[in-house]
Amino acid sequence: MNVKPSHLFYQGRERKPVLDQARGVYMWDVDGKRYLDGSSGAMVCNIGHSNENVLEAMRRQMEKSTFGYRLHFETEASEKLAAKTAALCPEGLNRVFFVSGGSEAVESAIKLARQYALAIGEGSRWKIISRAPSYHGCTLGALAITSYAPLTEAFAPLMQAMPKIPAPRAYLDGLDPEDEATGHHYADMLEAKILEEGRDSVLAFVVEPIGGASTGALVPPRGYMERVQEICRKYGVLFILDEVMTGAGRTGRFLASEHWNLAPDIVVMSKGFAAGYVPLGAMVAHERLVEPVLDAGGFLHGFTYAGNPLACAAGLAVIDEIERMDLVGNAARMGDQLQERLRGLMQRYAIIGDVRGKGLLTAFEFMADRGTKAPLPKSLRAFDRFVQIAYDKGLIVYARRTRDGIEGDHIIVAPPMIVTETHLDEITEMLDASLAEFTDEIRPALEQAV
Ligand SMILES: Cc1ncc(COP(=O)(O)O)c(C=O)c1O
Repeated sequence: MNVKPSHLFYQGRERKPVLDQARGVYMWDVDGKRYLDGSSGAMVCNIGHSNENVLEAMRRQMEKSTFGYRLHFETEASEKLAAKTAALCPEGLNRVFFVSGGSEAVESAIKLARQYALAIGEGSRWKIISRAPSYHGCTLGALAITSYAPLTEAFAPLMQAMPKIPAPRAYLDGLDPEDEATGHHYADMLEAKILEEGRDSVLAFVVEPIGGASTGALVPPRGYMERVQEICRKYGVLFILDEVMTGAGRTGRFLASEHWNLAPDIVVMSKGFAAGYVPLGAMVAHERLVEPVLDAGGFLHGFTYAGNPLACAAGLAVIDEIERMDLVGNAARMGDQLQERLRGLMQRYAIIGDVRGKGLLTAFEFMADRGTKAPLPKSLRAFDRFVQIAYDKGLIVYARRTRDGIEGDHIIVAPPMIVTETHLDEITEMLDASLAEFTDEIRPALEQAV
């Protein structure tokens, strides 16, 4: 491992092995150790690493031009990717604004929504309702609609506080997620919040259709998504889907919103959209929103790298590969199998209190007691420790804490959409060995806690 001093800093002081190369679902460090990328990085590398067709498309674009500022030139790559993206989105969602990541995409959606309200004479609308917990990004606008205490608390004085409603965590509240009444119970909290805040002041509702890092692959209860859409329509509140993690096929549909045939006003994507080959994201808006904003003088927003031709050429090649290999279908098929295997592990390991997800966005949550849903003691830092145990065995998984980021450790298993059954066998074996080791390690602490 490289222990030389570093000029880099990110979250903390911890050092990691140095990456050498990555191919398909595997990655190797400079010491030759192999890792299976069981979380596609941070649910990013959906088509696997070092895909030759994507590299070739990037090479071709690089030889022509790597940068063309959007105020100086249109580019073929950005036009083609915008057309392709619009074709894959629900009807009417056909205006695309490119960005370099998920937070930028969320910021762009918030700002377009606000400018739309101004353009149509509804300037009283500015509040954006989102859910608690949720994760929409780390820039201040996106953070204001995020609810995850360890990331938000320090910056509260710098942000405009935005209203939140509880995420529909039926499994924690002891409600049946298959019962429509459960979905309506949580969705109706949106209506109550709109009325509490003042119906003319609410601009939008932003939601991850299937939860990401903050709720660990939370699938909404039956009837929830349809009902929140209906409530948004009723009060003229824009319905914005944050598909940064779920978009581009991960949940077994190109957009997770297709699971419920939703018709959002804006969708944002990033992560799997360019699958880690370049920094790229997209805000896709209904033409009904964009035209009034352009008529009123234009969208007052932009990033230097928006629509970068190299990024767009890579994004286009990624979508071509997703279609050529039917990776959306594979995500649905392999996702079912992966969840079945996780449920098998749940039968053998009492510390797994819940298994959930859709397609290849799956997770399990640790609990000290399945009956009471009590989380593991915070001090065990299970999310960190389990990830390290698996990493040492050569499996990369992703972990966070479900209960406002403070406790309730969940582990996300989200391998690239090119996985085969053989890869799933390998993942399951390494998870099994990691769970056995972790269970042994925490047994004394759990016994003491009883
Ligand atoms: C649902 C969701 N929205 C937004 C973001 C922010 O994306 P980025 O980290 O690319 O800025 C993320 C990142 O994890 C996410 O999962």
